[in-house]
Amino acid sequence: MPIDWDPADRQFHLRNGQVSLVLRVFEDGTLGQLHLGAPLPAGRSYRHLGPDPFPGFSNRVGSPVPLAYPTSGTGDFRVPSLVAATADGATSLALHYRDHRIVAGKPPLDGLPSTYAEDPSEADTLEVTLADEPSGLEVDLRFTVFVGRPMIARSALVRNAGAAPADLRCAMSLSLDLPDADWRMVGLSGAWARERHVTDRALVPGRQSVSSVRGASGHEHNPFLALRRATTDEAHGEAYAFSLVYSGNFLAEVEVEPFGTARVRLGIEPSTFGWRLEPGAVFTVPEAIVAFSADGLGGLSAELHDLFRDRLARGHWRDRARPVLINNWEATYFGFDADRLVEIATTARDLGVELFVLDDGWFGARDDDTTSLGDWFVDRRKLPDGLDGVARRITELGIGFGLWIEPEMISERSRLFEAHPDWAIGIPGRPRTESRQQLVLDMARPEVVDHLADVLTEVLGSAPITYVKWDMNRNITEPFSPSLPPDRQGEFFHRYILGTYELYRRLTERFPEILFESCAGGGGRFDPGLLAFAPQGWTSDDTDAIERLAIQWGTSLAYPPSSMAAHVAAVPNHQVGRITPLSTRAAVAFFGVFGYELDPTALDPEERIEIAEQIRFYKAHRDLFQRGRFVRLAGPFEGDGNRVAWMSVSGDRRQAVAAFYQVLSRAEAGPVRLRLGGLDPDAVYRVSTWPAYDESLSRANRGDRSGAELMAAGLVLDAERWENAVRGDFWARLFVLDAA
Ligand code: DGJ
Repeated sequence: MPIDWDPADRQFHLRNGQVSLVLRVFEDGTLGQLHLGAPLPAGRSYRHLGPDPFPGFSNRVGSPVPLAYPTSGTGDFRVPSLVAATADGATSLALHYRDHRIVAGKPPLDGLPSTYAEDPSEADTLEVTLADEPSGLEVDLRFTVFVGRPMIARSALVRNAGAAPADLRCAMSLSLDLPDADWRMVGLSGAWARERHVTDRALVPGRQSVSSVRGASGHEHNPFLALRRATTDEAHGEAYAFSLVYSGNFLAEVEVEPFGTARVRLGIEPSTFGWRLEPGAVFTVPEAIVAFSADGLGGLSAELHDLFRDRLARGHWRDRARPVLINNWEATYFGFDADRLVEIATTARDLGVELFVLDDGWFGARDDDTTSLGDWFVDRRKLPDGLDGVARRITELGIGFGLWIEPEMISERSRLFEAHPDWAIGIPGRPRTESRQQLVLDMARPEVVDHLADVLTEVLGSAPITYVKWDMNRNITEPFSPSLPPDRQGEFFHRYILGTYELYRRLTERFPEILFESCAGGGGRFDPGLLAFAPQGWTSDDTDAIERLAIQWGTSLAYPPSSMAAHVAAVPNHQVGRITPLSTRAAVAFFGVFGYELDPTALDPEERIEIAEQIRFYKAHRDLFQRGRFVRLAGPFEGDGNRVAWMSVSGDRRQAVAAFYQVLSRAEAGPVRLRLGGLDPDAVYRVSTWPAYDESLSRANRGDRSGAELMAAGLVLDAERWENAVRGDFWARLFVLDAA
């Protein structure tokens, strides 16, 4: 068991050789958190790392005592984890140790997605019960340590064992007090079509945070933050990652207090949260993951990728090769009929595509975005033989058929709205704010979830559908549910997400062999919560190759390539108008779940030949791209961002593909070496370029190179001074490495 309990010191040590978490029950019964980070030797006392003894804050108010689940109002003036108003209206809880249990494996969380152990031998979980005696509120804090992973999963159950109701105002998933604040805070922020750009700032005294109050995790910030030392880079140095397995309003915050320590907290955003806890009721707090690495941000990402790909994602598609798809959205938008779709699918099939996805516009009378959301019946003007008719024509071509849906939405112009106007979120007596000309369904109401489960079960069962793209194109305004009494409206946002998870659960269980891809106007809900249901997500609506360098680089900080859908689109690009070479577009999209988002019938013969070759190349390296170790080499957020490079390395390090992208061509730019990472230093690799016709590059790198040389000296990218003139802007090359 990698969880030790020492009753003399009242100390827990969770350890696996890669990470240590040391907790201690202080003299007053508070649970202290003395260390979380690099592994510490077993069998030793670490009580000296915290105040010893600690009889409570009496006469020491404001001391930076490291606590596992802090409350407010009893001497700790930093940001709390748990705030609840008890029957008398007071909010000062004193949580004291009652008992604990150590169990093999990892218990699931009721109604919420979480990481899991497939076998109890993969993890151990410590559950510590703390209680606030006067109110009867109890908290079961859960800490899971996984075998072979430098990370701890945390969650909590808050139980009202008292006689009177209590009102939760804040129930965070994770709190971690670090002994110094000499860290830089790394985040993933942006906007629609510009998601998950890397931000990196020094911590300063006071509070710094990212959050969402939109009802979804959002395009703007991701429920993720990392801390790194100023000297930590991709491959070296200490770093922590914090990730919340949740898709709704969140807060990720670091507070630097006057003595110079730092408190990290992560969980449901408190200002838009409230929860009435009746006597006997239990509130389940979402899971948070904290990972530690001494091998830089790259080391952290590799660990998160493995966990999210293998023990958060689940089901039929978790370990399977994902199909190369074509999506008709940018090819046709709303203007298509069955013959047009079959024409696109046939051409794409001939090029090697394995799955056709019918996007928005197949239902109700949806010729633009003003109408029909909620009317999940086929538009026979466009598809006279129904979904089944078009799906069969396409599957007869020998490829799969996928379908777009947007379950959580309703158009004011729809039959559903005529029948159930009260199902759209809004506050009676106040105007509703529209966004993309649509409203949001009240997923907090069980009858709405039941209705959607019924109609979508019918849709998905009505045709041979192998893939679903689940979209969500607006955020929530006027949050309110008539199903909740006035004093419980604070529960709305969390109940919305619980309803959405419930619908996901029912549909994925009912259709276990359908591959679900999550989407929210691109990557507006790209978070670990949805990865538990949909093993891949539409990374961004921005399909421009150069914009995607930043988006995919940032996304890769936390999320594995197997979760990132990436497509080649037409030029000029529909989001930014940029014209990039077809080879560059593929060289970027290869590093994820690959596909196309264009009209293949409009391609010229050379482009078709090139695309067929791209698909052949991807299929030949699919496992490497989807499941290999992704190593970031040179980033779009470093220096002038003109040169970007990354690579994928197979699990056995026998094969790798490295990519180099040069955004703008520069005259007399000087020689460039690309130092690789993640290879076997003792292996000898045969290096080839893709596309294969790049004569001078092939010449410069021809022959066999040792892994040690490729990592220390690198590949030669500018063999001749004049080459930039030939290459032009937006140039990319892939290097294929095969161990001899
Ligand atoms: C937003 C998605 O991200 C797009 O790919 C497309 O599905 C549109 N919605 C359809 O409305």
